[in-house]
Amino acid sequence: MPLTIGVPREVFPGEKRVATVPDVVEKLIKLGFSVAVESGAGDAANFSDETYRAAGAQITEDAAKLWAASDIVFKVRAPNAGEVAMMREGTTLISFIWPAQNPELMQQLAARKVTVLAIDSLPRTLSRAQKMDALTSQAGVAGYRAVIEAANAFGRFFSGQVTAAGKIPPAKVFIAGAGVAGLAAIGTAAGLGAIVRANDTRAEVADQVVSLGGEFVKVDYEEEGSGGGGYAKVMSEGFQKAQREMYARQAKEVDIIITTALIPGKPAPKLITAEMVKSMKPGSVIVDMAAEQGGNCELTEPGQVVVKHGVTIVGYTDLVSRLSKQSSTLYSNNLLRLTEELCKTKDGIINVNMEDDAIRGLTVIKGGEVTWPPPAPKLPPAPAAKPAAAAAAPTAKKGGHGHGAASEPTSGTTMAIMFGVAAALFWAIGAYAPAAFLGHFTVFVLACFVGYMVVWNVTPSLHTPLMSVTNAISSIIAIGALVQIAPPLTAGVERPGDMIRWLAVAGIVLTTINMFGGFAVTRRMLAMFRK
Ligand code: NAI
Repeated sequence: MPLTIGVPREVFPGEKRVATVPDVVEKLIKLGFSVAVESGAGDAANFSDETYRAAGAQITEDAAKLWAASDIVFKVRAPNAGEVAMMREGTTLISFIWPAQNPELMQQLAARKVTVLAIDSLPRTLSRAQKMDALTSQAGVAGYRAVIEAANAFGRFFSGQVTAAGKIPPAKVFIAGAGVAGLAAIGTAAGLGAIVRANDTRAEVADQVVSLGGEFVKVDYEEEGSGGGGYAKVMSEGFQKAQREMYARQAKEVDIIITTALIPGKPAPKLITAEMVKSMKPGSVIVDMAAEQGGNCELTEPGQVVVKHGVTIVGYTDLVSRLSKQSSTLYSNNLLRLTEELCKTKDGIINVNMEDDAIRGLTVIKGGEVTWPPPAPKLPPAPAAKPAAAAAAPTAKKGGHGHGAASEPTSGTTMAIMFGVAAALFWAIGAYAPAAFLGHFTVFVLACFVGYMVVWNVTPSLHTPLMSVTNAISSIIAIGALVQIAPPLTAGVERPGDMIRWLAVAGIVLTTINMFGGFAVTRRMLAMFRK
């Protein structure tokens, strides 16, 4: 028998989102489910009961009845104690839960013998899981809204304009932290015509900042900022000092600062000090997106808009809810994609398949049993272990390691035999090969030796740029084509015909593309390794 998906009204104060929108109701029904929506659930997001009814949902007046009738419940905010009490055994709840922060709620849910899929626990590094990634969809909305809030509090245009009434300079916006929310803010502010700068401790996001129309401002201090899994790590005291100096300079120059810096599970780093706020131009704006985790600015008051030293500081913690129609639509699409994964048979029945990495990560309680935290994700098989000596290239042994990391250390006798065979071969070639061949052969052996010495000490991660630069260098064959266009006049040798010369011209054009393209690609690839 097909299952019923229930969508209750969100009860958290100020929460305007709804877990399912009418368009998605239709798609859930096509998957074989029946859908029941609590009356008024979509009101705050501008989806009336009528639109749900038209999409095929049943409207239920009473919350308790809805919870009791639902086999699966879609929610936005984690349920409160009252809602947990209304759940019946065997129900599946799909919602934000934050299991690490809510151990009591986890106990209560487990006691009700339900199954809980925490949308916040989705393994985000799985590319297949992106369509279900509600953290990303919601943070994108928040980043957009942060810019709109800034524009609202700012007394000028974002874009520069030349009007009859005078020249207006573009607003300068600085974004601290270029994660999901930060990148959305960069795109939005650049779209409005502002000059956008951004900084992040993870230097690898610099390209993304630029591609969205921003400028990446580096901290003048060398340190790797990535803590793995796409998240940041706490930086050293030296880095933090250099970062504060750079932020202090930016604060004096820019009109708007939007801060989004966060390291999961840590209090928000304090990046904007009271001094920096004081140094900003009057009428400037700070939107502190990390307000809920303590704020990136010392003077932020969570949930409030305050004016300090002539600077408006916006500390809203409900930016996503302030764009509830958009965020609800994106969130319910994330839940629809998840439901499709759970119901591949399209018959209105779900299968919480714990063998599936994405589903396993999401499932924090299965039939009353706490299954959080999930086991560490299966990593692709590690490359064959390298002997320590190979990693420490300068100390690597001479010879014997040319066949890769897996080769056995070569014993002295084997080495001696190999040298003996090689020497005999060289002697034979020297004694019997024609003189012309010998010249080429010597160059060949030397080239192999030099190439080996150059390439062997390059770390494997740099092999791709190395290949592209080698490819660019191979364009030296252009010299051949040049000689064909204007060969030196030699008595008795005819100059090449037009056909050959045109072919040489084509050859030069192609090798030039190869040469410049090769160097350009190498530069870009090497830039990815620079901190
Ligand atoms: P994210 O983890 O994708 O991005 C955070 C970024 O901050 C990362 O790129 C990280 O490298 C960077 N970062 C960490 N420490 C830094 C430092 N010291 N200096 C410079 N950069 C640093 O997180 P996401 O999803 O973009 O969220 C950003 C913030 O927005 C979080 O605090 C989140 O709670 C908040 N948020 C607030 C909402 C609201 O209504 N106010 C709604 C949604 C998100």
